[in-house]
Amino acid sequence: SIAYFNGRFVDSDDPVVPIDERGHQFGDGVYEVIRIYNKKPFMLDEHLDRLYMSAEAIALPFRQERESFQAIIHQLIEKSGLDNLDVYLQITRGMAPRNHLFPDCPVSVSMTAKPFRSIPAELREKGAKAILHPDERWANCYIKSLNLLPNILAKQKAHEQGCLEAILFRDGSITEGTSSNVFVIKDTRLYTTPLSRHILAGITRMAVQQIAAEAALTFTEKHVTLEELAEADEVFITSTTSEIMPVVQVEEKIIGAGQPGPITRLLQEKYTVRTS
Ligand code: PDD
Repeated sequence: SIAYFNGRFVDSDDPVVPIDERGHQFGDGVYEVIRIYNKKPFMLDEHLDRLYMSAEAIALPFRQERESFQAIIHQLIEKSGLDNLDVYLQITRGMAPRNHLFPDCPVSVSMTAKPFRSIPAELREKGAKAILHPDERWANCYIKSLNLLPNILAKQKAHEQGCLEAILFRDGSITEGTSSNVFVIKDTRLYTTPLSRHILAGITRMAVQQIAAEAALTFTEKHVTLEELAEADEVFITSTTSEIMPVVQVEEKIIGAGQPGPITRLLQEKYTVRTS
């Protein structure tokens, strides 16, 4: 499949990244995952805002003009030959002999374009299971950093237990999923974790917030305790690639009626309208 590295389009299998690359050696960079529906990137501006914010937060001198950067993304989409795809963007502190101190070199920009990696329709219909896992990540999770080791370990653990996601908790309240935000519904009201340094400000989360406002649903940002999660009527997770995904079981606890609930369904329908 098509990819991009520092000024040229390549095949994603081409060996283009040298050993002394800081993304590779230190995870010293930031990234985004953007979904393209019918050749149109969904909420591209919001993703780019977050990418530039993340870069700035780690003092990564990513100075490329937004317009020229956006033009490369569009070229990549065109060259992929796909209508529906996921674009991965990564900016790192560049290529320099390994040394913890910031190098004096240009940043590296890489991109890949891949067909949608969708959750199987059957699972989407039935709803997923999740485990609970202590949030062992650092204190700056609002940055979309390449360092994902705690996320990977927790998600793998979930997978090995037949679950789709690990819902992370800190101080008795849920923060987010390993690669998603978490919402709960109780008495027709929608709740999710407030934005802070401890979670990523999800773009899908933002879309759900907008949809909820349009649908006159009460949306409240609050710390949801593990007890409240267990007692929820409905639970769902959101991310660019899983969109709005119902969760019907957390650990041993069946959520609500054990199937995707009516408000989750309503939000899913409205999300599909936005993306099509
Ligand atoms: N993950 N929280 C974390 C920790 C995430 O990694 C993600 C996204 C989200 C949801 O953000 P958004 O709605 O903007 O996709 C929340 C991406 C998809 C990934 O790592 O693949």
